[in-house]
Amino acid sequence: MEQIAFSPAQVIDMALRQVAAGLENFGAEFDPQVRPADPRHGDFQANGVLPWAKQARKNPRQLGQELIDALATSNELNPLTVQWELAGPGFINFRLTPEFLLRWLETYRSDNALREGAGSSDQGRTVMVDYSSPNTAKEMHVGHIRSTVIGEAVARLLEFCGAKVIRDNHIGDWGTQFGMLIWAVKHHQTDLTKIEEVAELEALYRQGSAHYKSSPEAEDECRMELVKLQQGDPENQQIWQQITDASWRSFQQIYDSLDVHFDEVLGESFYRDKVDRIYAELIELNLAQEDQGALVVFHPEHQRFKTQPFLVRKKDGASNYASTDLATILYRVEHFKADELLYVVGLPQSDHFEQLFLTVQKWFAAKNYPVPEMRHLGFGTVLGEDGKAIRTRSGESVKLRDLLNEAIERARATVDAKQEERPEGERLSDEERAEVARVVGLGAIRYADLSQNRTSDYKFSWEQMLSLEGNTAPYLLYAVARLHSIFRRAGYTPGDASAEQGASAPEADEEIALARKLLAFPAVIEQTRSDLRPHFLCTYLFDLAGVFSTFYNACRVIVDEPDVRARRLMLASRTLTVLETGLHLLGLETLERM
Ligand code: ARG
Repeated sequence: MEQIAFSPAQVIDMALRQVAAGLENFGAEFDPQVRPADPRHGDFQANGVLPWAKQARKNPRQLGQELIDALATSNELNPLTVQWELAGPGFINFRLTPEFLLRWLETYRSDNALREGAGSSDQGRTVMVDYSSPNTAKEMHVGHIRSTVIGEAVARLLEFCGAKVIRDNHIGDWGTQFGMLIWAVKHHQTDLTKIEEVAELEALYRQGSAHYKSSPEAEDECRMELVKLQQGDPENQQIWQQITDASWRSFQQIYDSLDVHFDEVLGESFYRDKVDRIYAELIELNLAQEDQGALVVFHPEHQRFKTQPFLVRKKDGASNYASTDLATILYRVEHFKADELLYVVGLPQSDHFEQLFLTVQKWFAAKNYPVPEMRHLGFGTVLGEDGKAIRTRSGESVKLRDLLNEAIERARATVDAKQEERPEGERLSDEERAEVARVVGLGAIRYADLSQNRTSDYKFSWEQMLSLEGNTAPYLLYAVARLHSIFRRAGYTPGDASAEQGASAPEADEEIALARKLLAFPAVIEQTRSDLRPHFLCTYLFDLAGVFSTFYNACRVIVDEPDVRARRLMLASRTLTVLETGLHLLGLETLERM
């Protein structure tokens, strides 16, 4: 029996390329552009003939016909499993037969099977994801949540696609603020080992900075502490280390609650002795030039960066954000052998990353270092209900930890309300409700963020994210719990092969619609992977839950005919697996009971 490929779209894509390569009017460069189709027309549509014909000034319908004639005489696609036709001005529509749908569903039975199927696309690739990256001695704020949540989803997705992923937290742990901090620590004789909250460090910083501003002598005192730190003075080194440790203890609580774990925490300080080589190489290659004592890089071919400098060394000789980022890339390529570098950082830093990548491309090419693929995964701002950047009532930026706690509290109220609707015997215990509230609350925050296109700003709304209707975490988590309860009540275990034995191919419209939606999962993973935009996956899961509801309302699962019961159990079970797999990729936990 022929092997069932994970991604039918890819099979079709490859078949078309193969056939096109042998045709005079096409050729090996032809891109068939296979996309999921409007379900009324089929499962997939190849849109590539139109632009190809336009460029060649040929009739697209004629070229399309030529291509599908060649497809029919080749052995590339088995017409028993995939059918196709020419449509409109030159599209080719592909439809998977019910037998093919059945066999795919039999093959991709579990989370593991899906993983194996998806896992070939990034096999052998090492990808470093740089995300979260807060600054020490400063509270993580709501802006960091987007980086943490998006970065974690992207890391999981890449792992799912087979990449070796290195999660790196590039914390901001070096800079001029340490002079003031160290002065304050010494002056107040603070025991840093007792500090659990970054807020206390922030208070110290405020005192140091007030002192710094109070007189020229005070300014000198703080600057001396910084110089001593930079020269490796043991006492100041120790204080700096303790500040870093205390900050990390506080960050760690948030990472634990979000189930986010880093492989590396190589902050800016790690690169401070690695910047000299960068200056030397950039100067040697004439990429950097001295400008009033500072070292800068211009990009003459770029509209803005031909005059807007990329400052890589400050006037006083100190390294900065840019020099440490340059050293970081070299280290990631030389030490970790990274093929791809992803930066999950807010859009206001777009210029920094554009200048950084341009500089690295020229520098690495000139040095014959392997140039990694580099992408800035920028994201928009979280807005309050008033449409401005979100703030607390007293006007400060919202703290991440407060936000997470409030989410859990609010979810608890929703859970309790839901329980009241149930007969006494079916209500959850207090402990179970607390667990449900935790999963729903944290899930709601994450999902609200991920379901938005990451480059857009979005309005933070408790009411919307905790709603049981619409594209929300509570809606999807309920869909999962409902599927579990369907199986519990029928006395079956989801995914149990014996319950699915003898399943016949889907027949009713609602069954076929659900099967096709399930088979669209690989294409959605590919799209989410290539754009690195998790909202594609969210939209798909939301649609899938809807298609399942339609199926479930129309088709009774536990019927007498064994083959019909088996195929409906299979459809329900695959829906559950795809929903759970998808939600886990996004970083959400799921529940069997709610
Ligand atoms: N610490 C920086 C900030 O809070 C983000 C660092 C991002 N990563 C990087 N390699 N530049 O803005």
